[in-house]
Amino acid sequence: MSYRLAFIGFGVVGQGFATLLRDKKEFLMAKFGLDYKVTAISDPVKGSVYQEEGFDLSKVLALVEESGNLDGYDKGVKGWDSLKTVNESNADVIVEVSPTNIENGEPGISHIRAALGKKKHVITTNKGPVALFYRELSELARKNNVAFMFEGTVLSGTPAINLALSTLAGADVQDIKGIMNGTTNYMLTKMAEGQSYDAVLAEAQKLGYAETKPDADVKGWDAQAKIVILANVVMGGDLKPNHVPTKGITEITLDDIAQAKKNGKKYRLIGHAWKESGVVRAEVSPALVGADDFLYHVSGVTNALTFATDALNKVTIVGPGAGKIETGFSLLTDFLSFHGAR
Ligand code: HSE
Repeated sequence: MSYRLAFIGFGVVGQGFATLLRDKKEFLMAKFGLDYKVTAISDPVKGSVYQEEGFDLSKVLALVEESGNLDGYDKGVKGWDSLKTVNESNADVIVEVSPTNIENGEPGISHIRAALGKKKHVITTNKGPVALFYRELSELARKNNVAFMFEGTVLSGTPAINLALSTLAGADVQDIKGIMNGTTNYMLTKMAEGQSYDAVLAEAQKLGYAETKPDADVKGWDAQAKIVILANVVMGGDLKPNHVPTKGITEITLDDIAQAKKNGKKYRLIGHAWKESGVVRAEVSPALVGADDFLYHVSGVTNALTFATDALNKVTIVGPGAGKIETGFSLLTDFLSFHGAR
């Protein structure tokens, strides 16, 4: 089977996925009979190119790395905006990786509605549209008989959503708890080694972990979007982000962390969703954990999630929570899922 992909957004995650598509082309063909080309990229900062017969991905990636934009690409049509690219390109898979906006989901929500309406598959790591409009979008995808998949909205490429929806499908998930933001876990870990808040935030940005606006990480909004997605998608909840009491790490000082260390504790930013009289509730808050708590041992950009289920008791997954290739990998997971790879 052969697919044509269009990238809406070409930041860290988009480039991570494009790198995997370039490097794994022969492997994916040999193992799954998966064939593809990328025919369009539209990014508000890096520019946009549409080339019907497909790009040379090595050239595109090198160009963006060197010049920061696509202006020097010498083939194809330039200047299509994101919606024109979704609607008029020949792509049958839209890779929606524009920056997350948890307030109204734009511009991602418009891209996704348009793509699904045009009967194009959507794979995305964009948390805003899924946290705000999961039911509407999954219904729209179902009606149009296309895929709408978003593994990378939670724990980057570490299996979380698809694992819960498919492998754990027969279990009733009653509680989900864990560390679900890579940036803040990295920061808390480095601050416990004595580095300053500003220095470690800058490092997390440089490493490609932080959101475009890192306020979303440090104020807890990114974890808030993730716990809403898990609550609604996995536990059948009906939460909006503003239903979730949320506190970030901005008030935790180096002194607080040093004091905690003296007492054998660490700060961790924890997202939690649970059922209360049949209603799903959630919250995000920093907590002090001791060495007897598993989360004490989860450091750096690593995240961890525990699903409490009826049939299996607790199931915990641990893995990267952010990163260029790691998050790009989630899009490959989704792509392979709807291709039907096993
Ligand atoms: N900014 C996010 C994080 C990226 O640090 O977890 C992955 O969702």
